[in-house]
Amino acid sequence: MSAKKGLRADSTHFTLEGAPFLILGGSIHYFRVPRAYWRDRLLKLKACGLNTLTTYVPWNLHEPERGVFLFQEQLDMEAYIRLAGELGLWVILRPGPYICAECDLGGLPSWLLQDKKMKVRTTYSGFTSAVNSYFDNLIPRITPLQFKNGGPIIAVQLDNEYGSYAKDKQYMLFIKEALLSRGISELLLTSDNHKELKNGGVDGVLQTVNMQNLSNDGLQHLATLQPNKPLMVMEFWPGWFDVWGGLHHVFAAQEMISIVRQLLDRGISINFYMFHGGTNFGFMNGANNDGTYRPQTTSYDYDAPLTESGDYTTKYHLLRNLLSTYNKKPLPEPPAVQSRRAYEPVVVSHYISLWETLQCAETHFRADDPISMENLPANHSNGQSYGYTLYQTDIHSGGELNSRKHVHDRALVFIDRELIGVLDCKTQTVKISHSKSKRTLSLLVENCGRLNYGSAMDNQQKGISGDISLEDVPLKRFSMYCLDMKPSFINRLQSQKWMSVRQKPTYPAFFRGTLVVDKPTDTFLKLPNWSKGVVFVNGRNLGRHWSVGPQKALYLPGPWLRSGDNEIMVFEELNAAEKIHFAENPEYGKTINVPIE
Ligand code: GLA
Repeated sequence: MSAKKGLRADSTHFTLEGAPFLILGGSIHYFRVPRAYWRDRLLKLKACGLNTLTTYVPWNLHEPERGVFLFQEQLDMEAYIRLAGELGLWVILRPGPYICAECDLGGLPSWLLQDKKMKVRTTYSGFTSAVNSYFDNLIPRITPLQFKNGGPIIAVQLDNEYGSYAKDKQYMLFIKEALLSRGISELLLTSDNHKELKNGGVDGVLQTVNMQNLSNDGLQHLATLQPNKPLMVMEFWPGWFDVWGGLHHVFAAQEMISIVRQLLDRGISINFYMFHGGTNFGFMNGANNDGTYRPQTTSYDYDAPLTESGDYTTKYHLLRNLLSTYNKKPLPEPPAVQSRRAYEPVVVSHYISLWETLQCAETHFRADDPISMENLPANHSNGQSYGYTLYQTDIHSGGELNSRKHVHDRALVFIDRELIGVLDCKTQTVKISHSKSKRTLSLLVENCGRLNYGSAMDNQQKGISGDISLEDVPLKRFSMYCLDMKPSFINRLQSQKWMSVRQKPTYPAFFRGTLVVDKPTDTFLKLPNWSKGVVFVNGRNLGRHWSVGPQKALYLPGPWLRSGDNEIMVFEELNAAEKIHFAENPEYGKTINVPIE
């Protein structure tokens, strides 16, 4: 018997197992969907008529500290790929190392930035040695799941949109070799925005294109670059992501279907990015810079065919209709709709001021100059990756406090625990009243998300990354507290002295209440009249809340609740209300249509 033939790109159409094959793909990221729902979402993808699952692999989550690898539970990539295979789906894997994907630092671990000479996505030895060590751990998990070994992986993508970065001509060759030498033997791909195809390719690797509308010549360009090769839109964007303070992006279903129909009529393979976006749980989100720094929201709904909570949409139904004509067999029945509940509001019972929790901080460190998060001696010297850091020093005068653009990304400024202002990318100064007596200046600095795209990836240090000054004199003698808000920190808070909310809280503070549940069911958590912070459910970081919107409700998956008492804890920077509310449906805010161009 001849060896099984995997995905080939030897003519103008793909072949798989020797027969013509049209890739009908959809992206769902295992790290953005509660594990208990992986099966449901993949069954929905299959029932829509798609034949291939695509997913990125986020390095920053899998190697949170240098040499410490996490591949369990929510991060069990292998189980996810195997599940797709069991359900009869093929898999295109996108292991990066850079993935973009609206992840903090495009999925690169922040500890890379401890090296002042770091040049990510180049052949700089500090970067390649980190990639090599990660790939030594990652790739042996992938190779057994390749098609030739009986697994579902039919193709592997190199890095991501390198054409838009293109700082080192050798880089993509390095990535190619890093995959090949470790036993990746399925079809290799690159994917690039239609405007950047020219610099994105690498010899012997199939190029694909990312786009949203047909009014560009991306496909023509791709066909010219690669005559006699199949065309594939690796990322067809059925919607778009949102940023805090912006609008909710939507893409009209009919318009989307008409584009998809035209692509399929031309025999072009397609992957929906995203088919189901899910959620930027915890501190997962990245940020963009279009002249202004813009961090992405907790929801990654993306106006995709399946909503953030896995609901069917008009897009889904239209798409299923269309794709049924591209499938030889009748499509499987879509799984039943899941119910959601608006639980009764939870009354906040207790609070503890942040100032009373400092002894629970991961690290407390003193130094003459402020130290950026990445360089704080936390987490076995891997620094602090996410969350907040509190910087404190004593002052003996007043005047203008100037961040000198070294505060990333947002600092609440306090004098003797009283809020006097906020520093961020737009506001660099705060006035401090005059007084000769000794006062404590505190800056609670939040990493709102490192950029995940663009050329400034090496300069994404967070916290305070250089001098800040009072009346032009650099401040010295800092005390720094790492408040990464990991489960261990949240756990330590439990044994502290919490106060009844009858007393007026001192902000920022943690607030808690109990949600009593009979049967755990999905819900959306809402905080009307609260301001900004982070929500924890039974110790798990659900994500950030922020009254600027557009998102006004956080997805709370049923499997993260239990029958009986559930602890809801809200870290609130500025202003809490009496209750935590729940709703059956999301609230993504005022919409704007894409494509924007
Ligand atoms: C690009 C990237 C993706 C994602 C999308 C926007 O195409 O390749 O990772 O960032 O943009 O959602």
